[in-house]
Amino acid sequence: MKKISIFMLTLVLGFMFVNFTIENNKVPQEEVKTEAVTYHVPDDVQQIIDKSCVGCHNSDSKNIKGKGKLQFDELADLKLHKQVGKLADIAEVVNEGDMPPSKFLKSNPDRELTYDEKVKLANWAAEMAEKLAPSE
Ligand code: HEC
Repeated sequence: MKKISIFMLTLVLGFMFVNFTIENNKVPQEEVKTEAVTYHVPDDVQQIIDKSCVGCHNSDSKNIKGKGKLQFDELADLKLHKQVGKLADIAEVVNEGDMPPSKFLKSNPDRELTYDEKVKLANWAAEMAEKLAPSE
């Protein structure tokens, strides 16, 4: 579990570093990006988000702090580099087991992510961040 977390974190940081480096080297856009990718949430990932995240991270959430940090229903409207940043944050907190907050899970154990759900959500966020990141 811990090993996988560290691996995923390394992967995310790796993506960020590579993209940052590429941007700094000003590689022409065509070489970096071969297909147009836009923010997209597959149904199975959306189900996980609906179950464990949107209660606090949606534009109509009553959790002011959570809403201030992240709103899933507004994510697609953010500037691209902000989308990438939020997605990287999502991958990180999920891998670290920081979200949903443990205090919340004590009173809502049914919202806890299973191992498979964590992997699916974190992989989606990391891959989406990586696809969106280059050269914009
Ligand atoms: C019970 C409410 C609640 C739930 C459920 C919840 N969060 Fe959060 N989340 C918060 C709060 C509150 C913060 C702000 C924490 C802080 O500032 O210390 C936060 C912060 C975050 C951040 C920003 C972290 C940072 O370093 O800035 C991310 C990303 C995040 N949550 C993702 C998620 C994801 C993904 C889920 C579902 C798996 C989730 N959260 C579920 C309340 C929640």
